[in-house]
Formats: sequence, C-alpha cells, structure tokens
Amino acid sequence: MSEGERFKSPSGTHDVLPPQSARWEEVLRLFASRAGRAGYGLVVQPVFEHLEVFRRIGEATDVVQKEMYEFTDRGDRRMVLRPEGTAPVMRAYVEHRPAVPWKVWYAAPHFRYERPQKGRYRQHHQLGVEAIGTDDPALDVEVLALAVEFLRDVGLRDLTLLLTSLGDATCRPAYLDALRDYLAAHEAELCDDSARRYRDNPLRVLDCKRPQCVAVTEKAPALFEHLCDPCRAHFQLVEHGLDTLGVKYEIAPRLVRGLDYYTRTTFEITSGALDAAQNALGGGGRYDLLAEELGGDPAPGIGFGVGIERLLIACDAEGVLPVPPRRLDVFLVDAVGGEHGGADSALLLLDDLREVGLRADRAYGGRSVKAQWRAADKSGAAYVVMVAPDELSRGTVVVKDLGTGEQKEVGRDEVGAWLRAQIEHLGEGG
Ligand code: HAM
Repeated sequence: MSEGERFKSPSGTHDVLPPQSARWEEVLRLFASRAGRAGYGLVVQPVFEHLEVFRRIGEATDVVQKEMYEFTDRGDRRMVLRPEGTAPVMRAYVEHRPAVPWKVWYAAPHFRYERPQKGRYRQHHQLGVEAIGTDDPALDVEVLALAVEFLRDVGLRDLTLLLTSLGDATCRPAYLDALRDYLAAHEAELCDDSARRYRDNPLRVLDCKRPQCVAVTEKAPALFEHLCDPCRAHFQLVEHGLDTLGVKYEIAPRLVRGLDYYTRTTFEITSGALDAAQNALGGGGRYDLLAEELGGDPAPGIGFGVGIERLLIACDAEGVLPVPPRRLDVFLVDAVGGEHGGADSALLLLDDLREVGLRADRAYGGRSVKAQWRAADKSGAAYVVMVAPDELSRGTVVVKDLGTGEQKEVGRDEVGAWLRAQIEHLGEGG
C-alpha cells in the first residue's frame, strides 16, 4: 500500500457526504414508506455471517466463488461479510420461525470483491424486501409491483422489467440435461471459462457476455419453454396480476441471475439510462428451496434487491431526484454574548425552536454580531431570530424575514409558534 492510499477509502468504496447524502435520505424514506404501506417490517441484520449461510447459494457463481470477503475470526470461525441479503434473511427466518407470511425490508451494505468501475463497487448498498411462507402468485405480483412503483416514486421512467420463470425441481433437471447436451455439441465454440463450467452449471453459460458464447447461447433451449404445468400456471397468474395492475414487462426467456437459489418467477429491472454492462437497477425472484438448504422446513419465498448507487446514477442520467436544497428555517444571532445571561438565552431559545419542529442553527466560536449576520445570510435560512439586550429585557426578540427584509419584535415565548405559522413546510408535514 502506498503512502497516499493509506488514508483514503479503500478501492471500490465511497464516503457519502452531505449534501449528496440527502438524496440517500430521500430514497430511504420513499422505500420505507412503500414497503411499510404493503405490510413489510424493517429487518436489521449483522454485516457478517457464518460462511455456511452463503456457501450453498451459489457454489458455481462468481459472487460466492470469487468475490466473497471471507475471514477467520479470533475464535477460528470462518466468516463472510454479506455479499447479498436473501440468505441472511432466510437464515433469520429459519432461526426465529416468525408467523407467515413474513414480510420484511432492509437497507444494508453488501460486499463483493469485484473490479471497481462505475456502478460496480466492493461495498454497495441495497434496498430489498423478502416475503417468506407462501407460494401464492399474488405475492409475486405484490413484490414485482413494489419494486417498479418504488423506482417510479424516485422519479425514474426509463425502466424495463425483464421477467421469466426458472421452473422448479420438477422441470429444471430435464431442462438442464437438454441444455448440457446442447452446450456439449458446441463445446469447441465456447470461451474457456464456459467450456470448463458448463457441465456443473450450464445456466451460468447463458450469462457469459463473451461474443462467442452469446452466439452459441442465442440458439440454446430456454427453460422458459420447458416449464412443467404447475410452473406455467403460476407464471400465467403472475402475468395476469401484472397486466391487471398495468405493470409493463418483457418476457426474457434467457434471463439468468448471478445467484443460484432462484426458482419460478425471476426478474431484473434495467435502466435505459445506464451503460449496458451495469444496467440492472435491481433484481430478484422466488427461492422456494432455499429454506431447506439452510436447514429449515420447506418455506417458499420471494424478494428483490435494488442497488442504491446504481439507482442514483440512473437518477443523474434521467435528471431526476436532484440534491434537495438544505432548508434551514431559522438562524439564531446572539447579540448579548457573554458567558451568562446572553449565551444562556441563546442556548435556550435555539433549543425551544428545534423543540417545536423548526430547523434552526447558529454560529459558533463567539463571533461578532456582524459575522453572525453574514453567516445567517449564507445559511439560506428563511428567518433570523436575534437575541439582543434591550429586547430581552422587554421579553422579546428581533425576527427578520430574510426574503422580504422585514423586521419586527416578537415575544420571546411566542416566537417558536409564530415562526411555525409562517413556515409552509411544517403545515405540509414536511
Ligand atoms: P443482485 O442482482 O446480485 O441480487 O443484486 C441486486 C442489485 O444490487 C443489482 O441489481 C445492483 O443494482 C446492485 N449491485 C449488486 N452488486 C453490485 C456492485 N458490486 N456494485 C454496485 N451495485 C451492485 C441480489 O443480491 C439478491 N439478494 C436480490 C434478491 C432479493 N433476490 C431475491 N431477494
């Protein structure tokens, strides 16, 4: 590590600072609101788990094979920084056995040792939901609609919902045999990676972006065309629900995801505003066999994860969700000063203003009254409240509307309520 690197955030990670972080607050607020209205409760989980929680979800995937941050703790346990959020939620479900359907949402950091580039980081953050305990296709519709409607809440419009079914334990084995046979017949045309892995995990080959593999897989049999009757019926009910809600989608028979646990409904939401290599804003699907793989009784489930960083890149590209201006209602100027009386009056008044719901701030460091006024002007506050000796002795303070320049005296004890009445966002609940 070079001298210059030592005190920088590690490669592939980022500090999110104000004022940019205000967009994160807004995105989180919108997601919590959407998920909350649909009956999902917040789940907060460890950032590290036992290796076993993840090992089984993708023995042949890059996420598990190449990208996990694994470490041995001081008690000699193999641990992993969570690369994704579904297996930990299922681990918690199996551990705590909550009543079903168990519907939860999360906002959490995830860690993957990837080659950092725009939209691909070593620590990224996902907003996600998981709904466990029923295979009712109505739940698929709810989860899919929630993902799309949330992205629309944020302001995004250039969205495509790609939808497929990956079948189940009945129809998938026969399909995998057919796919393996097809790939075996084209083995010489595949890239080295695909030629090596197609016997163990032929589905991964469908995800290979190298041109020679794309040429082969374009004509490969698609699982979507080999579904058993119950899987087909399930998919048709999902389509019907989405059509009823007016949620648009494209059938993507060759959609493959980077994790192995998916069964039946599987989807990705891409943004036309992002570079093709990283255009997935989010993805998810059913994982009806995962509970058993984590040592639990059978419990079907469905969910999705949306990458916050990618979502914000898409917002930039579409010109939506600008950084909200920092709104300050009141700036307090202390014209009394001193350690007693004045300073205490300012301290108490500022606290009162915040207590009644106003966004209020002040200058620090014993600055002159003139310097405090300059700071007030720079702060973008709507009003200044000044504590001054004469007014204080009359039980009043000076209030100045920085928009109009109008100035007046208001009773010290009434000023909070008086300002509240003037400030619009409070009335709007904002
Ligand atoms: P995933 O497709 O691996 O799915 O990740 C979900 C989203 O997280 C991606 O669409 C992308 O926006 C974002 N993302 C993933 N990796 C990175 C990265 N290295 N840098 C930036 N953003 C990234 C899952 O993780 C599943 N657990 C989703 C799910 C939930 N399936 C069912 N329930």
